[in-house]
Amino acid sequence: MTSAESATAALPPLPYATPPQWAPALLEHTATLLVDQGHLEKKAAAGALSFLFRVPGGNEVQRSLSALAREELVHFERTLRLLAARGIGFEPLQPSRYAERLKTAISRTMPHRLADELLVAAIIEARSHERMALLARALRGRDDELATFYDDLCEAEARHESLYAALAASLLPADDLTARFDVLSRHEQAVLTALPFAPRLHAGGSP
Ligand SMILES: [Fe+2]
Ligand SMILES: [Fe+2]
Repeated sequence: MTSAESATAALPPLPYATPPQWAPALLEHTATLLVDQGHLEKKAAAGALSFLFRVPGGNEVQRSLSALAREELVHFERTLRLLAARGIGFEPLQPSRYAERLKTAISRTMPHRLADELLVAAIIEARSHERMALLARALRGRDDELATFYDDLCEAEARHESLYAALAASLLPADDLTARFDVLSRHEQAVLTALPFAPRLHAGGSP
């Protein structure tokens, strides 16, 4: 078993790249995207807290997951401040079916189930990173405050991805990890490309 404390498991890139027209097509929907972001950050904090109770490990694993959960709540509060400053209410929003559909490929038996859940979390962080970077680039010069907001979140998403990857690597031999990432990342591609385009971070990529 690899130590999650020292592991810097880097996963291969996701097999599917969001098309370049995705972010420009969303520039008219930034208010909805920000509300979506608030809901995503809150769910990310809840996901990290759930792992905090289920991932085996000592002090360092617990501290890392606690810090991650806290950071997601800091993102949530930052999103709420930005919404308030722009006079946008934080309302309930129909989520995209992305996360729910991703979970259908998760193994039902332990220890693969927990490792798969961690890999799915790493994949969601990687996809969020990719898409927030695209949004930041499209917004730069049009809405610099929002471009900087997404740029700042990207930096955190990269760290979250590698923590979840390292924790998955602490549960599985390297060959199994690669094989499961392959299956789950291809499933993610199928899920994302089947979803219709919508003003959500995790909806279909083609307007
Ligand atoms: Fe976040
Ligand atoms: Fe995150």
